[in-house]
Amino acid sequence: MTGRLTGRTALVTGAAAGIGRAVADRFVAEGARVAYADRDTAGAQAAATAATARAVPMDVTDESAVVAGFAALAADGWVPDVVVVNAGVQLFGQDAEIADLDLDVWRRTHEVNLTGAFLSMKHAVRGMLTIGGGSIVLTGSPTAVRGEGRDFIAYASSKAGMHGLGRTVAAAYADRSIRVNTVVPPYTETGLVSTIATDPAARAAIVGRIPMGRPGTVADLEGVYVFLASDESTFATGGTFAVDGGMTTL
Ligand SMILES: NC(=O)c1ccc[n+]([C@@H]2O[C@H](COP(=O)([O-])OP(=O)(O)OC[C@H]3O[C@@H](n4cnc5c(N)ncnc54)[C@H](O)[C@@H]3O)[C@@H](O)[C@H]2O)c1
Repeated sequence: MTGRLTGRTALVTGAAAGIGRAVADRFVAEGARVAYADRDTAGAQAAATAATARAVPMDVTDESAVVAGFAALAADGWVPDVVVVNAGVQLFGQDAEIADLDLDVWRRTHEVNLTGAFLSMKHAVRGMLTIGGGSIVLTGSPTAVRGEGRDFIAYASSKAGMHGLGRTVAAAYADRSIRVNTVVPPYTETGLVSTIATDPAARAAIVGRIPMGRPGTVADLEGVYVFLASDESTFATGGTFAVDGGMTTL
């Protein structure tokens, strides 16, 4: 089925690569106009090739850049009624168990994953309030809901913060037609996790914690974002949607 997002204007952060790229491309295929926002401007430009796509340079940790990105879109009549808050980092080789974790690694992780989510949501909500509402979809993590991230303390805690942000904003804006939901992907082989994907023992260990017995793919995930962006999910807000091969059931 296509055309499920016809008439929508979407912005996806972290759309130059990985999950964000796949979701942005799928939204285009479903009929939306899509802003590919990323701090990797060249990557966003290379991705946003469709007639209904455009690249938006945006470092989500920089409020002036987030404001400028939304303002440039609004100036052209593109006020997003769908925003996917997806940009994220995981500092492999630096993130660690808490006794070994440097404050700087903690800060750099939280700056993108949690402060970046805050800023993206703040300005998404401001725009949605001018157009009568919208849908925000967050890319969460299994590390936010179970002990999966015990040696990734900065990452897991940033994602747990994001889940909490999503629930709280959902409750606060439910009466103003702004919905917020969180998708929980499993281990998914994007550039983010190449450190695990290229280490057979580490890869086998994490795949062994996915009951369906394989990593996720970006294609596994796109559909739930379409559902949460569309009117098929109008009564869903504050929810956590695991599409993780059963990873969070263990
Ligand atoms: N891959 C996984 O196993 C997995 C699992 C669960 C959750 N996630 C989450 O999915 C999201 C997407 O990750 P991915 O796996 O597609 O990673 P990825 O590295 O393939 O893509 C991340 C994108 O975010 C962009 N980005 C990073 N920092 C940014 C910033 N400050 N401002 C704007 N853009 C920025 C990067 O340039 C890149 O294009 C992240 O939030 C990640 O935490 C990933």
